Amino acid sequence: MKLCALNLCLLLASFTFKAVDGYYKQILSQCHYTRDLVNIEFIQSLYFNMAEYLRYNSTTDRYTGFTVYGARLAESLNLNPKNNLYSNLDNFCRFYRDRYSSNVLKKVKPDVVLRSLTSESDLPVAKLMCSLYDYHPKGVNVTWLRHGMVLKEGVSSTEELSDGDWYYQFHTFLEYTPRPGENISCMVKHESLTQPLIYTWDPPFPVDKRNKLIIGIFFLILGIVLAVSGCLYYLLRSKKSTTSETNSEASNLSETTMHVYMNTNNK
Ligand SMILES: *[C@@H]1O[C@H](CO)[C@@H](O)[C@H](O)[C@H]1NC(C)=O
Ligand SMILES: *[C@@H]1O[C@H](CO)[C@@H](O)[C@H](O)[C@H]1NC(C)=O
Ligand SMILES: *[C@@H]1O[C@H](CO)[C@@H](O)[C@H](O)[C@H]1NC(C)=O
Repeated sequence: MKLCALNLCLLLASFTFKAVDGYYKQILSQCHYTRDLVNIEFIQSLYFNMAEYLRYNSTTDRYTGFTVYGARLAESLNLNPKNNLYSNLDNFCRFYRDRYSSNVLKKVKPDVVLRSLTSESDLPVAKLMCSLYDYHPKGVNVTWLRHGMVLKEGVSSTEELSDGDWYYQFHTFLEYTPRPGENISCMVKHESLTQPLIYTWDPPFPVDKRNKLIIGIFFLILGIVLAVSGCLYYLLRSKKSTTSETNSEASNLSETTMHVYMNTNNK
């Protein structure tokens, strides 16, 4: 049984007698490659009005008919070895394989994004999403880990989705009850990677702790501002008193009056 993982289907020629209510004839040549591009099968199909009536298969090196006319044609074509199309395996399929295989076999690493789908109201249950984008070829293995142990419960995933441009994307979800200090990771295996990639979830700061931190920072800054302005006040004052003797007397005077004013206030 052949694995036709990569089908390069090339339209060799098509003869069309096409009009409204006309007839349609088509010849389709295909090369079927195994994933490693070693085993190849050449197929040529003849269609009349979309129905395949004759097929050449290089593996059996024979024609097969699918209608009464096709069966008769196959029988006569099989009688003469000159009719076989085996040489296409080399001239056509191997030729295109050598020319394009570097594109076909390219491996592209996934871009991985790990994010939370949880809002405050969902707690205590949290949901994480691990997304893989733009990788090639199809075939990733993604597992969730808690402290390095594989998690089976609460896991759900999408199919591997084709982007339509040879790239794929994949998403997997984990629903779990978060505990402080735990290590939840998403582990990605893909043939483009020499070793698994591990993305560890870094939970955001809890809201109550964040508020305490903000209040703390506010008072810290307030303290610094007061301390600095106190120092400045002290420095300015001591500068004044040393540079100008006459002024200092005046300021002493005003200070005493202020003290008096404050004392009366306190009473
Ligand atoms: C060609 O023949 C082989 C051997 O019988 C068979 O396995 C394969 O499916 C055939 N391919 C097609 C496209 O019919
Ligand atoms: C979390 O676990 C992963 C997988 O076991 C490990 O690679 C990572 O270093 C751990 N991180 C922390 C912060 O412990
Ligand atoms: C993914 O896992 C499957 C089954 O466990 C395995 O056959 C396949 O080789 C793995 N693929 C990668 C890329 O590790």
